[in-house]
Amino acid sequence: MKKIGIIGAMELEVEALKSKMTIERTVEKASMEFQEGTLNGTAVVIVRSGIGKVNAALCTQILCDVFEATHIINTGVAGSLKNEIDIGDIVVSTDTLHHDVDVRVFGYPLGEVPQVGRLAFPADEHLVQLAVSSCKEVNPDIRAYQGRIVSGDQFISDKKVKEHIIENFQGFCVEMEGASIAHAAYLNHVPFVVIRAISDKADESAETAYPVFEKAAAAHSAALVEHMLPLI
Ligand code: ADE
Repeated sequence: MKKIGIIGAMELEVEALKSKMTIERTVEKASMEFQEGTLNGTAVVIVRSGIGKVNAALCTQILCDVFEATHIINTGVAGSLKNEIDIGDIVVSTDTLHHDVDVRVFGYPLGEVPQVGRLAFPADEHLVQLAVSSCKEVNPDIRAYQGRIVSGDQFISDKKVKEHIIENFQGFCVEMEGASIAHAAYLNHVPFVVIRAISDKADESAETAYPVFEKAAAAHSAALVEHMLPLI
């Protein structure tokens, strides 16, 4: 039977989904609260992982080991890396990578974790298509882009850092968990997708834009996830 693990780094990224689910059990592990049950009839486990790559990887492994999640969806917000992708738009991951990994000294391309065998982790195509078509139905006024999402343990709010990331990784948006979730899901052979709504432009304007737009952006992404669940 399908069981969808849904991860948001922050409470506001999962609160709407949690409030709509029927909870069958709550399990605390690694200081995270996993709520298992159904959402509109679909078996789900919803969890706030906490911010950053370590929390996200731990959380994904627990979803695989303890809950035997068959699919993993990461919902949340991100900073845009493209001029045309604006605050409020959605990016659905085609693949994700770690923009803060650098082992070039031993011949690995920038961003590649040694011995994993790949730079980027491809998202599940079926989940990607469902996310894009669900966006058109749920948020017809919001543009949905498909592209690479890059992650690192940094909030990007500096144009120079943003440009370095764009130049080296060709990402559509940047956040702090997606690549870790993808990496862990990949190692566990579990299909995943990362869905992010843009809360800021990942430059000097991010400090003021982020707090203003994060709530609405998180709600966009969560609404899309809710719509796609029964179609998985
Ligand atoms: N999440 C939302 N905006 C972000 C940014 N600018 N950098 C990293 N993570 C983010």
